[in-house]
Amino acid sequence: VGRKRNLLFIPGPVDVEEEVLLASAKPVVNHRGESFHEIFEDTKVKLKEVLLTKNEVVLLTASGTGAVEALAANFAPGRKALVVNNGEFGSRLAETLKVYGAEVVEVTAELGSAPRLEAVVSQMDAVKPDIVAFVYNDTSPGVRLSYARELSKEAKSRGALVLVDAVSAVGGDELWIDAWGIDVLAGASQKCLAAPPGLSFVVLSEEARENLAKDVKSIYFDLRRYLEYSAKSETPFTPAVTLFYAFNSALERILRFGVEKWISMHVERAAALYRAFAALGLVPFVKEDYRSRTVLSFTTPHSVNATEFRKVLTEKYGIEVAGGLGKLKDRIVRVGVMGRIPMRDIVALVTAVGLEMKRRGVEANLPEALGELAKLASYEHL
Ligand SMILES: Cc1ncc(COP(=O)(O)O)c(C=O)c1O
Repeated sequence: VGRKRNLLFIPGPVDVEEEVLLASAKPVVNHRGESFHEIFEDTKVKLKEVLLTKNEVVLLTASGTGAVEALAANFAPGRKALVVNNGEFGSRLAETLKVYGAEVVEVTAELGSAPRLEAVVSQMDAVKPDIVAFVYNDTSPGVRLSYARELSKEAKSRGALVLVDAVSAVGGDELWIDAWGIDVLAGASQKCLAAPPGLSFVVLSEEARENLAKDVKSIYFDLRRYLEYSAKSETPFTPAVTLFYAFNSALERILRFGVEKWISMHVERAAALYRAFAALGLVPFVKEDYRSRTVLSFTTPHSVNATEFRKVLTEKYGIEVAGGLGKLKDRIVRVGVMGRIPMRDIVALVTAVGLEMKRRGVEANLPEALGELAKLASYEHL
């Protein structure tokens, strides 16, 4: 109430539909009682449907970092891991695996790109890792590991477990967990699944469940405990009961919409926005092959200071986009496009960016940019 409601074009959390917000306005029930058992089971079933997986899911009351930490705590101890590192979240994944006792070798590339698949595979042959880990969509430069499927296959054929941080991709990009052979995947509620922040999850293959570390140095993220309790439709520790209601409702909406349609909405929207922003004089930061479909990053022309530009978008138009992280802090603008975003908001974003680019002397072709949006399917009625 009274809170200024800016349009969020940040890489999560995203704006949450009223239906989903209202779903959480229900009584807090006993988490060891029948009504929680029902919501717990139903949420698990829906999550598996949305993720198009038959693997086991474990729901955590924690943000995405918690899911990544669970992945590390339960698989890193005493193992050798090869990490494909494309940015801040790749570095964090490597660091987390080290904290939990893995010997880590990283493969990197220049920022805004990814190492070539052949380079990763030859490192795999040299290092002979027990684990191959990567971030599917590194949110910090906006790099998508477009060969995730081939990489997973190469890792599996060498007997390694495949661990993936897909926090900023699940629901917003092509991802076939089972067919690609991903053993452990971490995701979160507040990005492309368009639920409030606070819940995350780990998806485990049968092989992963048989290979959980024996000496897990964590109580809260010990997945064995979650799997045991899951058999009785409970979590080992007190879950955020009301967030379960909201998450369930968000998943329900995606199922109603159609999972594949939800994903292609993200993919097509990203492609249209890359074209629209190019018409406005913004240059994609990432090489074409590795451009994210959920976090679009751009460098600005010399006459435009990225940080000041973002400030103006917020203060003058009530539109929030993100800046760079780490080394990219003042160099790039990142536009998060996750969940269902009304066309009205997308048009507002592109128009505001166009007007401000023009004001700074950039040759921005706003009609052409808006023309790209006009080609997009409208999902207003859904
Ligand atoms: C790829 C990736 N991994 C992990 C995280 C951490 O998620 P959270 O902020 O929910 O802890 C993020 C958040 O942006 C992310 O983009």
